[in-house]
Amino acid sequence: MGAGDEQVGARLVHEPRQLAGGIAVAEPHVGRHATRAELVGDSVEHRLVLARLEVREVCHRHGVPLFFDACRFAENCWFIREREPGHQGRTVREIARELFSYGDGCTMSAKKDGLVNIGGFLAMNNGAWAEQITNLLMMIEGFPTYGGMAGRDLEAIAIGLGEVVNEDYLEFRVGQVAHLGEMLEQGGVPIVKPVGGHAVYVDARRFLPNIPQAEFPGQALVVALYRDHGIRAVEVGSLMFGRRDPGTGQDVYPQLDLVRLAVPRRVYTTEHMRYVAESVIALHRRRDTLRGLRLTYEAPTLRHSRRDWRRSREWNRLPGSRARYDTIPVADQLALLGSR
Ligand SMILES: Cc1ncc(COP(=O)(O)O)c(C=O)c1O
Repeated sequence: MGAGDEQVGARLVHEPRQLAGGIAVAEPHVGRHATRAELVGDSVEHRLVLARLEVREVCHRHGVPLFFDACRFAENCWFIREREPGHQGRTVREIARELFSYGDGCTMSAKKDGLVNIGGFLAMNNGAWAEQITNLLMMIEGFPTYGGMAGRDLEAIAIGLGEVVNEDYLEFRVGQVAHLGEMLEQGGVPIVKPVGGHAVYVDARRFLPNIPQAEFPGQALVVALYRDHGIRAVEVGSLMFGRRDPGTGQDVYPQLDLVRLAVPRRVYTTEHMRYVAESVIALHRRRDTLRGLRLTYEAPTLRHSRRDWRRSREWNRLPGSRARYDTIPVADQLALLGSR
């Protein structure tokens, strides 16, 4: 998509090459699987909102319905208003309406921009699909009027969807995340820029250059953050996206090893953010003492969700190493920063 590449690369993204690659991949991907278009940049929250027309065009050309992952729709619409020429005078609600008009439907994990603790929904513009899905819903989730959720949760989602497009709320929300990014940057921590709406992403390969990707630098940082400071983050890197090539048997690692510091909505204060920043900066200052990890168990699917670790062997040889920390049952982790 020549024109699309140029437009998207020039206007939206920090790393145009990467994003342009994403759009280029989308077309053959759609054609081959006819299920979904994948766009590079997603995990660093460059959601391609500005490329929506190009994406719609590709999907429709291949007869593929375009469904948005809408879980952060309000934050993304806020960014359209802030960054895309011609939208400054509009409300976030208006921008959201326009954005959704380009799609055939959406999936929504309402734990994010639904501002609730649990629940979600599927929405679509096609009555026939809705009928089919409703029949399935009754067999696997619940009656159409509640879809397996409690009535109070449905009500909370309805209220949350209204409140989340409030510009005062969004300004605070996005500003809080930006502030965390600024503090980290000032402390010398390598982060991905521009900072997104729900999280700051730490560049673990630059943070821990001595730990090879085979020893999961992002996950090593996640574990140290939790163990030493009680802060839970999530790795978006070699653990989540690394794989074994079935042809060569070699491990293939993604280019980026990131740690996502996601900030739950309406929970934390500026003081909490300062504590998080100071903790990450403290770890960065003593980064030479951190060691890599090796996997001792991984689930056959979604290994980033279920696995166990052992520190790489060098750890035990270090003076003062604490053997009791050697095995880290990740399932026991509690959250300060959640995964939303
Ligand atoms: C973009 C995006 N979509 C969907 C999900 C899944 O949400 P849930 O945990 O409710 O299944 C996540 C979770 O973090 C997400 O980041």
